[in-house]
Amino acid sequence: MESDSHVKSRTSLCRLIGLERFGSLEGTLSVVENGPDSPLGYDVRRVFYVFDTPSGAERGGHSHHADHETLVALAGSFDVLLDDGSADGLRRVTLKSPDTALLIPPGIWRSMENFSAGSVCMVLAELPYDEADYVRDYDEFLRLTSSKR
Ligand code: TYD
Repeated sequence: MESDSHVKSRTSLCRLIGLERFGSLEGTLSVVENGPDSPLGYDVRRVFYVFDTPSGAERGGHSHHADHETLVALAGSFDVLLDDGSADGLRRVTLKSPDTALLIPPGIWRSMENFSAGSVCMVLAELPYDEADYVRDYDEFLRLTSSKR
């Protein structure tokens, strides 16, 4: 499928974004707002978050055909493993601050591990939930990205 996002995806297109901070003696607030000035480059239509994650768990383990997703460690820390299907396209990013977001474009295989106790992973998604947008089989992911190898 030449037009599938997997063909063009690169882990270098994943970016860390410093979110705006409003700090005072009473604490700090960060915000993401839809619109032309959004740091994400897309409007958010779905928010979900993962919590109560056991330290040994591995989550994720999929890519998306179309959905852009941005991860934020709202509490604690975890590692995100990024894979574009090429031999030199593996990256590990540790998220550990609620003012730092990791944008993952479609076509990138991601998994999360090394969750600290009490961690909360929030995901800002471009699209509504659609199981058909997932690639959950790693061999299928490699087939979709085969032009990179
Ligand atoms: P999944 O995306 O596999 O979680 P993770 O990538 O963190 O391991 O989703 C886990 C379950 O939750 C799966 O049965 C689908 C369901 N789910 C929804 O119903 N709506 C959603 O928006 C999401 C993200 C998941």
